[in-house]
Amino acid sequence: MSVLAGAGGKMRDYCFPRIVSEPVIPLIAVPTTAGTGSEVTRFTIITDARNDEKMLCVGPSFMPTAALVDPELTHSLPTRMTADTGIDALTHAIESYVSRKGNPFSDYNALEAMRLIAPNLRRVCKNGGDTQARADMMLGATLAGIAFSNASVALVHGMSRPIGALFHVPHGLSNAMLLPSVTAFSIPAASARYADCARAMGVADITDGDQDACQKLLEELHALNADLDVPTPEAFGIAKEAFFSAMHTMANQAMASGSPGNNPRIPSIEEMIGIYSGLWE
Ligand SMILES: [Fe+2]
Repeated sequence: MSVLAGAGGKMRDYCFPRIVSEPVIPLIAVPTTAGTGSEVTRFTIITDARNDEKMLCVGPSFMPTAALVDPELTHSLPTRMTADTGIDALTHAIESYVSRKGNPFSDYNALEAMRLIAPNLRRVCKNGGDTQARADMMLGATLAGIAFSNASVALVHGMSRPIGALFHVPHGLSNAMLLPSVTAFSIPAASARYADCARAMGVADITDGDQDACQKLLEELHALNADLDVPTPEAFGIAKEAFFSAMHTMANQAMASGSPGNNPRIPSIEEMIGIYSGLWE
């Protein structure tokens, strides 16, 4: 709204690869989830309702003027939304840290975000009134937002958006469905980085070599999905035939978003289709 009111035109005029830097109406962002990090990013996602495409919009015009980050606003968030948005924030941190566009500034924010989010995600889902855990989640989500605004997200987000748009799966949930398998796919290209993630999340320590730490990271991502009741696409209610017939379109939309190009292991269309179909095994 801020961009359209300030610069005119239609939302589609502003989607990636255009970098939007037009003057806009100042925006004060007040997040009510510990999730998107949108309060501190120059990214936004707008769904084009005509073709169910989640359009990625990028540029300084999408950066709020100010953010009021108050964890109390998340105390009444329902468990499902707490879990989905929390996994989204964790995904932002991990993807920033392994992104080809990462840098020392995004790394620091990403690692600290993982340290804050990983031990508290289950806690806020178990007890939404856990004040300390809610506060750590909120700060973690905001730091993860700062991280990915400076490093970009990668393959999980690229492949997640089409699932969300076509099958109306909440953003964090489609990320969660993909996070373990995309991480397994990507580890061979960045095992030291993923090992750092495992250590920051507290599931491995400095005595673990990179391979062991990566294995522990994968185990944790699977365990997290189980503990937070993340459904498979099938359990979510998606028809297998519809999903399989959409996989080629989804992979092409993912590639067009640019996010897979930031991944440590850049996939082909066929490899993305392989990951999509693997969600049904
Ligand atoms: Fe996200």
